[in-house]
Amino acid sequence: MSMKRYLLTPGPTPVAPETNLAMAQPILHHRSPVFMEILGQVREDLKYLFQTHEEVLILAATGTGAMEGAVANLLSPGDTALVVDGGKFGERWTEICTVYGVKVERLPVEWGRAVDPQEVARRLDAHPEIKAVFVQANETSTGVQHPVKQLAEVVSPRPGTVLVVDAISALGGYELPMDAWNLDVVVAGSQKALMLPPGLAFAALSPKAWEFVRTSTLPKYYFDFAKQLKSQQKNQTPYTSAVSLILGLKEVLARIRAEGLDNIFARNRRLSAATKAAVKAMGLELFAKDYPSDVLTAVSAPPGVDGQQVVARLREKYGIWIAGGQAQAKGKIFRIAHMGYIDDLDILGTIGALEVVLTDLGYPVTPGVGLRAAQEILAKES
Ligand SMILES: Cc1ncc(COP(=O)(O)O)c(C=O)c1O
Repeated sequence: MSMKRYLLTPGPTPVAPETNLAMAQPILHHRSPVFMEILGQVREDLKYLFQTHEEVLILAATGTGAMEGAVANLLSPGDTALVVDGGKFGERWTEICTVYGVKVERLPVEWGRAVDPQEVARRLDAHPEIKAVFVQANETSTGVQHPVKQLAEVVSPRPGTVLVVDAISALGGYELPMDAWNLDVVVAGSQKALMLPPGLAFAALSPKAWEFVRTSTLPKYYFDFAKQLKSQQKNQTPYTSAVSLILGLKEVLARIRAEGLDNIFARNRRLSAATKAAVKAMGLELFAKDYPSDVLTAVSAPPGVDGQQVVARLREKYGIWIAGGQAQAKGKIFRIAHMGYIDDLDILGTIGALEVVLTDLGYPVTPGVGLRAAQEILAKES
């Protein structure tokens, strides 16, 4: 018998059966009235998700496409950008800027730590030529949430600088109101808290960021945000729309609206609290020392245990898919996601299985110690 599969990786995340059915509908032509009406609805619902009045651009790409688009559309050759680099995805901002000939002022942050907004303020004071600050809301590789609200308080009073937030693993997972917090650019992806397959990326820009677009001279073609905006205002996309994914998007956005963002955020916080209490009860430590994420838990592997082995054994023995560490964290951590279409049983099953797997790998765990901690939280806060 093939093994039942449980997907608890921090992207992709599981897709609900209702969404799969919506995506299985016959293909629509992207210039047809019926599809344009769907796109119109999706445009409105995306504004609710991003908590913005601005247009949310819908790109057929993975999240990195929207990151690249943000760089190419805001900046010009020789501009300087400040990159908060506290993990694998912070590094990506530097890589993209470098490819485009943007000078990078790097602000390294120890993996597992969050950036200090005052340090960003000091860098901006010392380098007034910095035009953009690039950061992750949720650094998926370390399980840390950077303090985006405070970063916006530092950046937004400076007319010559915009804050660009990679919210690929944050948007829809926890509170990140674009307009209320004065976030200039927010980019997201479909395969995380949005509960869709990979393949759609999103970008929303504040009026200040659109001003930067008007003067940007970096080359762009597919990811030309101005062209994308013009097309979306006619309920179209400039090129063939990813019609099946957009049908799925319409379905998830309707469900997100029906449940309400606050309820979704509370649900994720509760699953996060249960997961974190459980691993601590097993004597394990969180890898995130500051602001541990609400959407995933990064756990330091105990001494003598290879984090990759934990991942492999959970998959092979129980069909539970979690993620290991990336780059310098490879083997040192494992990561359990609790965003999107994940419920109490997914978490309880994973914790129970983790107790067995860690014991198998030579780190004895008293059976039930993690489960009990998780159950206590899930019982009282449901
Ligand atoms: C914070 C963050 N940024 C960027 C990416 C890259 O997104 P994609 O793989 O969809 O291009 C990811 C994906 O894991 C992510 O979690």
